Amino acid sequence: MTKDHLQPGFPVTRLRRMRRTPALREMLAETRLCVSQLIYPLFNVEGEGVKSEIPSMPGQYQLSTDNVLRECDELAELGIGSVLLFGIPAEKDEHGSGAFADDGIIQRSTREIKQRFPDICVVTDICLCEYTSHGHCGIIEDGGVGNDNTLELLTRTALSHAEAGADIVAPSDMMDGRVGAIRETLDSAGFEELPIMAYSAKYASAFYGPFREAAGSTPQFGDRKTYQMDPANSREAMREIALDIKEGADIIMVKPALSYLDIISQAKAEFNVPVAAYNVSGEYSMVKAAAANGWLDEKRVMMESLLSIRRAGADVIITYFAKDAARTLNR
Ligand code: PBG
Repeated sequence: MTKDHLQPGFPVTRLRRMRRTPALREMLAETRLCVSQLIYPLFNVEGEGVKSEIPSMPGQYQLSTDNVLRECDELAELGIGSVLLFGIPAEKDEHGSGAFADDGIIQRSTREIKQRFPDICVVTDICLCEYTSHGHCGIIEDGGVGNDNTLELLTRTALSHAEAGADIVAPSDMMDGRVGAIRETLDSAGFEELPIMAYSAKYASAFYGPFREAAGSTPQFGDRKTYQMDPANSREAMREIALDIKEGADIIMVKPALSYLDIISQAKAEFNVPVAAYNVSGEYSMVKAAAANGWLDEKRVMMESLLSIRRAGADVIITYFAKDAARTLNR
């Protein structure tokens, strides 16, 4: 790739010349991070006036809708254009019916956000795990997580979010065939212009630990290894992504981000679609914990991590650091 024969050696070539001043370094930076590339996740709970900090995620909160709206105000001010909404219902059941209820938490919040902040891009998470009593992302059949019968509930969820005004729906359940099923349902209801951001290569990762505390979505039995991917696999990730694109995904996602930069990079090289990466809860909490101990420079580690995700090939980054990063970038 590099044409080394076109480049004289030392001492004619001195790469340090281009690192001499901040202005030179800034001008020649190969990768840039912009506030408009960040999506900020929000945990939305029932009630009013609720803002309770998530113990394992310092600086992140469970918020009732009134406080979600306050948050949107702040995001707009910072130039962050997108939010990813996770709903935590007051009650859970076997089928996760809160996920697709017309008056469910996300459906109501989406309506309110779009009414007050029409310019904010509302991305909604499509999954059942926050809504099921057993904490799995699908319905339980014969002691396992059923696939095909789960699809119907996911499509109902996506449609209800679309009707509420979501700008992007993001299925994160990892059932086979869900992107196609959601696309078909949306199209036949007149939502053919609504994009799908598919969590295509979502790994069965221990880095989701803090999120599950935040969302109360820890599986009550077993784990998610029969539907989320094995961290050992990269070829399989490319198959997952290819299938999702074929089924109609507009944006594909790799998740988590930092331990999977190779997957992001491969996805970017192989597919001509926008790539999103999810800088997940555990990745956030590790930095926070180390910084709280004075072991790392939080701001610098944050910016370096986000930049590395961009350098690997992500077009969009979902991150709990969005506000802090925006403050740094806006300076
Ligand atoms: C599932 C979902 C999870 C995350 C996003 N969507 C958790 C899981 O699969 O257990 C994790 C996000 C994070 O860790 O920040 N609906």
